[in-house]
Amino acid sequence: MMRGRTLPGLILSLLVSPAQWAGASDNDAVHTGVATCASSVCHGSAREKPESPLLRNEYLTWERHDDHSDAYQNLKSEQSKRIARQLDLNQPAHKADVCLDCHTDHVPPEQRGKRFMLSDGVGCEACHGGAENWLESHSGPDVDHAQNVDQGLVPLEQAEVRARVCQDCHVGDTERFAGHDLLGAGHPRLQFELMSYSVLQPYHYRTDKDYYERKPRADRPARIWATGQIEAARRMLDGIQSDGFMTSPLWPELAFFDCHGCHTPMSVEQPEERYSSPELTPGSPRLNDSALMMALMLERVIPGGTPETMLKTIRRLHGASREGPAQVRSVVGELEPQLASLAERLERTRLTPGLQRELLGELTRAGARGRFSGYLSAEQAAMAAQVLLKHGETGLEGPASAQLDPVFDALDNPDRPDDDAFQQAMKQLRAFLAQ
Ligand code: HEC
Ligand code: HEC
Ligand code: HEC
Ligand code: HEC
Repeated sequence: MMRGRTLPGLILSLLVSPAQWAGASDNDAVHTGVATCASSVCHGSAREKPESPLLRNEYLTWERHDDHSDAYQNLKSEQSKRIARQLDLNQPAHKADVCLDCHTDHVPPEQRGKRFMLSDGVGCEACHGGAENWLESHSGPDVDHAQNVDQGLVPLEQAEVRARVCQDCHVGDTERFAGHDLLGAGHPRLQFELMSYSVLQPYHYRTDKDYYERKPRADRPARIWATGQIEAARRMLDGIQSDGFMTSPLWPELAFFDCHGCHTPMSVEQPEERYSSPELTPGSPRLNDSALMMALMLERVIPGGTPETMLKTIRRLHGASREGPAQVRSVVGELEPQLASLAERLERTRLTPGLQRELLGELTRAGARGRFSGYLSAEQAAMAAQVLLKHGETGLEGPASAQLDPVFDALDNPDRPDDDAFQQAMKQLRAFLAQ
């Protein structure tokens, strides 16, 4: 499975940004290799260059601090060997397409330049796109960002584009996927939230005033969060509609379900509140609705929304999971246009500080009432609150940020989720914000 050569992928990328961009993985440009970016006069400076708008030490940051540069080497670790054995890959992990697809810049051989090395792992061009057509020109004195993008540089400052690029590996799609077989063999759970992970990536760019001037279409953190959630929800629904959903006549692909519903020790009580899934009887596996629940929070604050309809449809989705795949897919068919409408309204709406505070209000209200049943939703709610408080424009950062600690403490041990502690922490945060 090579990346991104499918028709649906291409169509999607055309929808994202019609004339400008054919997508990191969807265009045929040659990937020239990390070595071609790493010269000391380019991005391989030993330290930041204050006189330049860019940091210029991007290569060293990536090479020394960014996990992406180890992604290929990690395929040779004991853990990877064990995964490969358990999956009966019959070849080492670092030779298997299923691993290389997410742990390297896995473009087909004809797109690998002379200095390209698979062993570089997730290199610059895995995110920024093949540099063949802009490597020479992009550092010119009179070249602006828009021109580079015209030449194929991927505009990662745009939320929709970044959501697609990162989630291809961090959430997966119908081409690349961390299924329950991979997880069962010992692969870590793919935890992801677009804005939090953008911050978590060791910083090799600075979003200062100059950045936003050079990149006028750059999106702000709250929008990056929101767009990431809608994209994650869309991928979940796509996955359910795909052939990969039913892995056997008896069982669906368990990676679409809430891990902790099955994996919490029996001595830990499951949450009593089943806000999004009252139609499920206790003891039923439940679909992972964490991204849909975040979409619901957005639906409540973005003008023109019909949150009651969306909540009812999410509930019916859970109900349908007791009936059969056809019933599930039929409800998914109803959710898809609802999400599309939300995405479209989000694009037209300014996420003002007031609106971001409203969103934070919805999140903490729902959290304080125990509405996020299940670890995965709670985890997403916590990251959302953090993004809005620390990186958004709510104007509430500072003292309120300290109130986040108990929220994250409650999530500290994924093997023993503590719903009560989470709810308490959200109550406290809410009370603090109301002061
Ligand atoms: C080609 C696949 C790929 C793409 C594209 C990609 N990542 Fe990753 N990312 C990985 C892999 C694989 C790892 C784990 C590397 C390892 O430790 O072996 C990782 C690790 C990370 C980590 C460290 C996670 C941790 O637990 O500390 C962060 C943060 C991260 N990625 C953020 C991003 C962001 C943000 C984007 C988009 C701008 C992105 N990634 C795009 C594959 C990818
Ligand atoms: C859908 C994309 C995807 C696929 C397929 C995939 N990985 Fe990963 N892998 C990731 C990401 C993303 C991470 C980082 C997870 C995180 O920290 O959030 C990761 C993390 C890991 C880690 C932990 C690395 C560390 O720093 O501790 C190992 C080991 C690993 N993967 C091995 C494999 C092997 C072996 C295969 C093939 C059998 C494979 N992966 C297939 C995306 C993928
Ligand atoms: C995991 C994805 C990922 C990888 C790998 C990656 N970058 Fe980036 N890079 C980003 C994101 C996200 C941004 C911020 C959005 C933007 O402005 O493009 C960015 C921004 C930049 C910027 C723009 C800074 C500015 O102020 O305009 C430069 C330059 C850059 N990266 C160089 C590199 C180089 C060189 C490498 C390899 C050594 C690299 N990047 C690897 C994701 C990545
Ligand atoms: C419907 C129930 C169910 C769901 C949902 C589920 N799993 Fe599992 N999982 C199982 C079963 C059953 C096994 C096999 C246990 C065994 O081999 O004894 C398993 C095995 C595993 C293992 C191997 C270790 C172990 O406990 O045996 C891991 C890791 C794992 N699952 C992770 C996940 C993750 C991550 C998710 C969510 C993305 C998930 N599972 C969702 C039922 C589930």
